Amino acid sequence: MKLSVSVLDLDFGHLEDSIRLLESADIDSLHMDIMDGQFVDNISFGPAIVRTIADITVLPVYSHLMIKEPEKYVKEFFNAGSDSVTVHIETIVKENKHILDTDNIGLSLNPDIELSELDPYLNKVSEILVMSVYAGFGGQNFIESSLGRIEELRKKRDRLGAGYKISVDGGINPGVASRCVKAGADEVITGSYISASKDPVGAVKSIREAVRNLT
Ligand code: DX5
Ligand code: ZN
Repeated sequence: MKLSVSVLDLDFGHLEDSIRLLESADIDSLHMDIMDGQFVDNISFGPAIVRTIADITVLPVYSHLMIKEPEKYVKEFFNAGSDSVTVHIETIVKENKHILDTDNIGLSLNPDIELSELDPYLNKVSEILVMSVYAGFGGQNFIESSLGRIEELRKKRDRLGAGYKISVDGGINPGVASRCVKAGADEVITGSYISASKDPVGAVKSIREAVRNLT
């Protein structure tokens, strides 16, 4: 299992220290939650902060765009040092679907969006990011029906011989992470469980352990 940590709730006053601490934990990448106040109610940060973080860290940087008209910004987020950029299917229309032909592009969807909406793109994208909370805020509870969606995406991938990674984003803690992996997830993204912990390195360890104890 790959483990990515959302920087949304990190201490931005001591960004470099927070990132160095995460790097000392057993994590695989950093997850940038980009929110525009339109597609979601919250506003977070833009490409300049992604660039700052990408320059600081040795870890891969993944940008999750929760924004309207993503076609205007995808290139900018890659140029800012993102290793991959994920957009929401809810923001894809006929006129901008060409962005899904970009290398290292992922697709995400909120819990109320039918999985079948993804069908035309499953052979193109490198990642399906299953939202297990409604996009917009950290600290929400995991929505249980996400497990069935992960299973379904796993089956579809086998059927199609497609190459997308299945990631899960929202409400991840050790117990939830192990159930997501059991359902077929390749990666979990966790935010508040790590950043609200007094011991982020130990919090990462406890997620790893829960997943290891699966078998
Ligand atoms: C929600 C974001 C998630 C979230 C993760 O809109 O995409 O990445 O902040 O944080 P937790 O783990 O607190 O749900
Ligand atoms: Zn996210």
